[in-house]
Amino acid sequence: MSKSPRMTALGLMFASTLAMAQTPYTEDSTYQGLGGKEGIKKIVDTFVPMLLADPRIKDSFADFDMVQLNIRLQEQFCEYAGGPCKYSGKYRDKSMDGVGTVRDMTTVHQDLKITNAMFNALAEDLQIAMEQNNVPTRYSNKLIAKLAPMQRQIVTTSVPAPKVPEMGKFLATGGVSQLEGAGGGGLTPWALITSYGTRDSWGANAHTTYVDTQDYSLGTYGVAVGIADRLEISLAKQDFKGSLAPLDQLRIKQDILGLKLKVAGEAVYEQDSMLPQIAIGIMYKRNKGIGGLGALGVTNVKQLGAKDDHGYDYYVAATKILFEQSLLLNGTLRATRANQMGILGFGGDQGDSLRLMPEISVAYLAHRKLAFGAEYRRKPHNLGVDPEKAYYDAFVAWFPTKNFSVTAAYAELGDITIFNPKKQHGMYLSLQAGF
Ligand code: HEM
Repeated sequence: MSKSPRMTALGLMFASTLAMAQTPYTEDSTYQGLGGKEGIKKIVDTFVPMLLADPRIKDSFADFDMVQLNIRLQEQFCEYAGGPCKYSGKYRDKSMDGVGTVRDMTTVHQDLKITNAMFNALAEDLQIAMEQNNVPTRYSNKLIAKLAPMQRQIVTTSVPAPKVPEMGKFLATGGVSQLEGAGGGGLTPWALITSYGTRDSWGANAHTTYVDTQDYSLGTYGVAVGIADRLEISLAKQDFKGSLAPLDQLRIKQDILGLKLKVAGEAVYEQDSMLPQIAIGIMYKRNKGIGGLGALGVTNVKQLGAKDDHGYDYYVAATKILFEQSLLLNGTLRATRANQMGILGFGGDQGDSLRLMPEISVAYLAHRKLAFGAEYRRKPHNLGVDPEKAYYDAFVAWFPTKNFSVTAAYAELGDITIFNPKKQHGMYLSLQAGF
């Protein structure tokens, strides 16, 4: 094979990988779930006026034939949903190129200067139009799974970073704030970058979390910024308290500075690929000493056997949103010496090296505004006085708006000290507010 046919073959292979998203469902359950032809017509009849009223995108449609667009969208949604339709497409004017081929999504949209935030706005309107027509979320997510990869063909423009965040990401795709302040689930940092800033923008949020077990409580609060949907900077403060004698006066504080960088993949748009979004992160943790045990002469975690009162966690996280299955999956691998996240210091008499600990989250996207799921976080056991065990939780996260979310969970934190050998479990409540 000469070089150029080989290149052509490679190009075709690449193109066909990209085109996977354009393959409609081969069975018609999504089509039926959308309500068949009649249901799709109702959805599009709701959707098109929404586009014309949406200040984020309405100007793009100003000079176009919306009756035509309505018909084409019905054809396209029906076809991708596995229904008995064929998207006829807008034909080239034969006088233009003499070919008369169907225009693809790239050609149709290339002059429209569409940004990621505009693309997401349109998809969000479609989700709401489906909601208003009582389409169950599992089916609306299936249609979104087919349309999301079109981002690669439709989004051709980036805008200079606006001074005010445009909050252009999909609802819930910044995650919530985990116990150490990073964007993620409750226990685990995810590869998603916190906030709603797209690649053209930024966003920030503040959170407060409270976990209450039988004998201890942990309060955290912090702020986080997501820049260009690529870099995340977070700062969190933890305040751990005991309530059972002899630890009823116990109080330990810790500060955590986190950095996270998205290095590959796209959790939302790449619905046609198995590659997850991947991010690497680092957390610098400084334990600020022990209060309430002065009578015993204990004021520092080193007196409990920890080797250090500060340390670093390093992690790599992989997150995949599977709209077709309405699932979010996350796996994080963390290298750490931290005892109880660092609240009991770093390293100890049982071990002092960085050890790799897996963390897993699974969430079901029950509704555009609601997810529930479970998490597992393994932890090292470095300290003799701390029979450390894995953390678990089962959570529900509610996103009434992009400015505010609430996460409630039941958390199992395992044994915390040998002075009180009891599995600690209780409620977890976290609030996040952002712009
Ligand atoms: C998943 C996202 C999108 C899908 C599935 C989609 C689908 C379509 C379809 C099927 C057509 C009709 C083409 C034809 O007549 O054959 C179309 C045209 C059009 N779309 Fe989109 N579109 C998407 C995103 C967007 C966005 C984000 C904008 C702007 C904010 C936009 C603006 C337009 C306009 C103005 C036309 C008319 C173009 C013309 O008639 O030449 N689209 N789109």
